[in-house]
Amino acid sequence: MSCQIWFSYLPGTVTNSKPALGQQLLFDLGIDKKHKLSFPGMLKAENIKKDYGSLQVLKGIDLEVKEAEVISIVGASGAGKSTLLHILGTLDKPDSGKLSINNSEISSLNGDDLAKFRNQHIGFIFQFHNLLPEFTAFENVCMPGLIGGKEKDKTEEYALHLMDLLNISKRKAHKPSAMSGGEQQRAAVARSLINKPSIVFADEPSGNLDSKNAEELHHLFFKLRDDMKQTFVIVTHNPDFAKMADRTIEIADGKILG
Ligand SMILES: Nc1ncnc2c1ncn2[C@@H]1O[C@H](COP(=O)(O)OP(=O)(O)OP(=O)(O)O)[C@@H](O)[C@H]1O
Ligand SMILES: [Mg+2]
Repeated sequence: MSCQIWFSYLPGTVTNSKPALGQQLLFDLGIDKKHKLSFPGMLKAENIKKDYGSLQVLKGIDLEVKEAEVISIVGASGAGKSTLLHILGTLDKPDSGKLSINNSEISSLNGDDLAKFRNQHIGFIFQFHNLLPEFTAFENVCMPGLIGGKEKDKTEEYALHLMDLLNISKRKAHKPSAMSGGEQQRAAVARSLINKPSIVFADEPSGNLDSKNAEELHHLFFKLRDDMKQTFVIVTHNPDFAKMADRTIEIADGKILG
């Protein structure tokens, strides 16, 4: 399932000049700040419901996420956080309800159109990095772009750019087994960004890290938001991170509390 979200790469214009990193990334992403600000809504979910047999997991979730917001989702184990994240990330379908992302109505997309939309607009980071063990960090980061048939040079250049930003370029030639947990997870973050998604969903991305690496990863999300205006929706059990987020959504009994 996670492979599908790798399959695209929106080519950006990578130049040889060296403007400020944040500015360069915005340029690479083809993001015009004025345009971005005029479309502040990134995600809107309305009355999302999901049952598994007789178990009503989501009983009507309404959620809006603005561009460049970092939202955390918290709740007890089994509350439905991953179920919701997968639905918001278009990896799963709700039984009912409406979802739009970046002004596209997801409920009306199917098959290839949905896969294409997902590939172009959505990044995923999982608790366990899911890097492919037989490939180097660099190959792992590039892979979603290359699988999508995009230009090798541009994909590699942008992968290096991201790896620099995430401070893992020195681990470029390392296979995941020769990287620390924090490095592996930062490579997974770079991989999630290679296709320049509109929104990144992360399911307990620091759940497998020690406290120092977890803290570094959390700061990284905010840096990516500040530098690239990247939008994040992050499920977490980490109370410190939940507090750092712009907004925290708590799920209990199939609904958002409050
Ligand atoms: N494919 C499935 N089939 C049947 N039941 C499922 C399925 N996926 C999830 N569930 C059930 O739905 C409920 C919500 O699961 P979910 O994985 O969304 O919880 P969660 O909040 O992410 O929990 P955790 O914090 O432990 O990851 C659980 O009771 C789970 O057993
Ligand atoms: Mg979960």
